[in-house]
Amino acid sequence: MNRKYRKTIIAGNWKMNTLPSEVKSLFAAVKASCGRAAWCRMVLCVPYTHIQQAVKATRDCRISVGAQNLHQSPHGAYTGEVSAPMLKDLGVKYVIVGHSERRQYYGETDVSVREKTLAALEAGLRPIVCVGETLQQRDLGVTNELVTLQVATLLAALDSHSVRKVVFAYEPVWAIGTGRTATAEQAQEVCALIRALLRKSFGTVVARSVPILYGGSMNASNAKELLAMGDVDGGLIGGASLKPEEYAEIVRAANQ
Ligand code: 13P
Repeated sequence: MNRKYRKTIIAGNWKMNTLPSEVKSLFAAVKASCGRAAWCRMVLCVPYTHIQQAVKATRDCRISVGAQNLHQSPHGAYTGEVSAPMLKDLGVKYVIVGHSERRQYYGETDVSVREKTLAALEAGLRPIVCVGETLQQRDLGVTNELVTLQVATLLAALDSHSVRKVVFAYEPVWAIGTGRTATAEQAQEVCALIRALLRKSFGTVVARSVPILYGGSMNASNAKELLAMGDVDGGLIGGASLKPEEYAEIVRAANQ
């Protein structure tokens, strides 16, 4: 982290878990456990069905509500899809784009990730853009090339104003839901690579203002070490974010 230049973000991704009827009590528990936590931004990315209640539950606190996906068009004949203006209208502030589960199961590509990111920015949402390699790609030694391609495809469509609204998340696919976390050094190396790409396109001042998160089996026991790395500006947390007390411990670990 480097709080001199950018905010720390501790974001939870609930994925397809919990019921709408549980939202009120889960948010009450998160609020009670986290307190004000002025040192970081807290974001919880919930299923679409939970958004209205989540926004209501966060009216009196510092937690922002995020969505987990969006469609790239603002409206139209796309049965079953949800657009950026719809999310914005509900009070959503962040949206995850290009999560590896969406890339793997729903055919999302670097090009669709770029379109969705632009749609989010156009509507005034902050996209949390996920990048990261599979185990096979890491073993082949092509992690840097792969992440460079994922990031560069997006950066080519941004300008120095819009890129400041983007949050990146480095999520190695092999670390997601596996309990196998990247080492702090591995996380730092790729987050630093992403920042170097930002620097190359937009210069130092812009590059140092963009938050880059790590995601993949982050929990209360490894968060402190990961967050101590200079280019790891927070976390995108799956399983552990479903347990309010553990999420709060990660929020506290960011206070260093
Ligand atoms: P886990 O923290 O459950 O590994 O999930 C990470 C993730 O995919 C967050 O988007």
